[in-house]
Amino acid sequence: MSSSSSQLTVTDPAARVGERGRQLPLLVLGAESDRHSERGVSCPGELPLPSDPSLVRRADRARAELGDRAFILGHHYQRDEVIRFADVTGDSFKLAREAAARPGAEYVVFCGVHFMAESADILTSPAQRVILPDLAAGCSMADMATYSQVEECWENLEDLGLAETVVPVTYMNSSADIKAFTGRHGGTVCTSSNAKRALEWALGKGSKVLFLPDQHLGRNTAVLELGMSLGDCVVWDPHRPNGGLEPGALRAATMILWRGHCSVHGRFTAANVAAARRRMPDVSVIVHPECVHEVVTAADQVGSTEKIIATIEKAPAGSAWAVGTELNLVQRLAQTYQDKTIVFLDKTVCYCSTMNRIDLPHLVWAMESLATGQVVNQITVDPQTAIEARAALDQMLALP
Ligand code: 13P
Ligand code: SF4
Repeated sequence: MSSSSSQLTVTDPAARVGERGRQLPLLVLGAESDRHSERGVSCPGELPLPSDPSLVRRADRARAELGDRAFILGHHYQRDEVIRFADVTGDSFKLAREAAARPGAEYVVFCGVHFMAESADILTSPAQRVILPDLAAGCSMADMATYSQVEECWENLEDLGLAETVVPVTYMNSSADIKAFTGRHGGTVCTSSNAKRALEWALGKGSKVLFLPDQHLGRNTAVLELGMSLGDCVVWDPHRPNGGLEPGALRAATMILWRGHCSVHGRFTAANVAAARRRMPDVSVIVHPECVHEVVTAADQVGSTEKIIATIEKAPAGSAWAVGTELNLVQRLAQTYQDKTIVFLDKTVCYCSTMNRIDLPHLVWAMESLATGQVVNQITVDPQTAIEARAALDQMLALP
């Protein structure tokens, strides 16, 4: 199959008027036109068919050929068909540390999304190459904070004389440019495993935090873990003049939350929690802190993917859990701990569509290409961005 025919295509009705039947890619993903966005392009070359019965054998063979030259990282939200080939699995914090701890691997194959691969490139040595098997594996949340929007926000804070009191804290789920912005302004990266420590550190340094790009993780951590009130938080909307905020509101706020969210975790509702409790009276509800505040407060427990896994692993046989996080992980938990009842918090099936872009055909294609010496889908961060982003990532890795 050729590179262009390996993409899903759709016939654009507008294009048909002037150019009959012209095929457009279904996912028009930037085509490298916007360096600051999370968008990618589809892969070149021969992509195996998803129904190819020899895929697992091909994956095993390519993996064996690569040996220690490759290290494969798998985020917990990856498909089973991919996760079985991961040398290590983890949440974004664990995977960042694992990538940094493998200086011997020539190739770090990242089965996750674009911002994770960028962080891995920043944390690994220049001789190592980080590969994202499908460049279309972006993140809608990371796309919600572009570099120019964040610069504009900062200029606004400078004009109000507030910038020197503000410490930026960016969630790992952001582009390298946003991490570089954070490093340049003396801030830190955080993940859902260490957001509390990151906020404590930042508020020991300044009196306000600009939290990017997930308003929910910022709010939930500030209110539930640091004892702030909802009134201590304001939301900066990058699509409105001055973020949609009066200067007085910005002066009074401790947390300036960016108006971004996860399209997967943002789907869970307090009504889902109530329905799960009605259906299963003994259920414990555990959700990710990217969920909205009403869901997190209605749940019994909240935690990063690693914490969700550890909690369920330790739970007694016979216990029942409704889990509010990505569906691949919830299904894997249900499969692994069959002595417990584990259900998805929402009744509607919803995977993270970008995490799911990494499938076995793309992984096989990437590994086979590497095994023949052809480096495909390498993720590189330009050196200046990498230096500044690394300062923010190192600050995260050094958090007390
Ligand atoms: P963690 O891996 O930090 O739990 O984040 C979840 C997520 O949404 C990753 O994209
Ligand atoms: Fe982005 Fe949410 Fe998918 Fe994570 S689960 S990659 S935050 S869209």
